[in-house]
Amino acid sequence: MRSYPVQGPLPAFYHYYPGVPAVVGVRLGERVNFCPAVWNTGLSANPPLFGVALSPKRFTHGLLLEARRFAVSFHPHAQAALVQWLGSVSGREVDKGRVPHFLGRTGVPVLEGAYAAYELELLEVRTFGDHDLFVGKVVAVWEEEAFLDEKGRPKPGLSLLYYGKGLYGRPSEETFTP
Ligand SMILES: Cc1cc2nc3c(=O)[nH]c(=O)nc-3n(C[C@H](O)[C@H](O)[C@H](O)COP(=O)(O)O)c2cc1C
Repeated sequence: MRSYPVQGPLPAFYHYYPGVPAVVGVRLGERVNFCPAVWNTGLSANPPLFGVALSPKRFTHGLLLEARRFAVSFHPHAQAALVQWLGSVSGREVDKGRVPHFLGRTGVPVLEGAYAAYELELLEVRTFGDHDLFVGKVVAVWEEEAFLDEKGRPKPGLSLLYYGKGLYGRPSEETFTP
């Protein structure tokens, strides 16, 4: 293996990819916006906490600070082009609220087509370097049963994977228990 010391940002790539992007949905008054975030993570099971790291450059960042609630949704690989588009244009220039979506129990916008989605209340925001970690408490869950197995997991081969630099893929349909 080759090795090199790192002083500034990672020079080539984020080696923790591929990841499953979460599409963040925020509504402030009439304004609805969506922003994919592959830097996302579960943080606690009880209470159920989930976090997304957003750059302050994102239009979503300011909206979410005001709205204090948001949705995250997880999508089949067939929606790669939509996710890529949502992550290539800013709500400052384009009305991304025109994409098909519905409002959840708490009024947060959920992008159509997801196999699962959460509605979250914003609990805390903490800055880590050039991104801010938005931690939310899950207050409602949406599940598309046809896309899930008997344990609620996305069916093998379904999820969208992001490999970085605009490249997407899908997991294998083969699964195993080691
Ligand atoms: C697949 C994918 C994943 C992304 N993940 C993140 C992320 O985790 N955090 C972030 O700040 N931006 C991320 N981005 C970039 C934003 O989604 C992108 O800048 C978007 O256009 C911001 O939209 P907004 O200005 O309407 O909020 C990602 C983009 C793509 C395509």
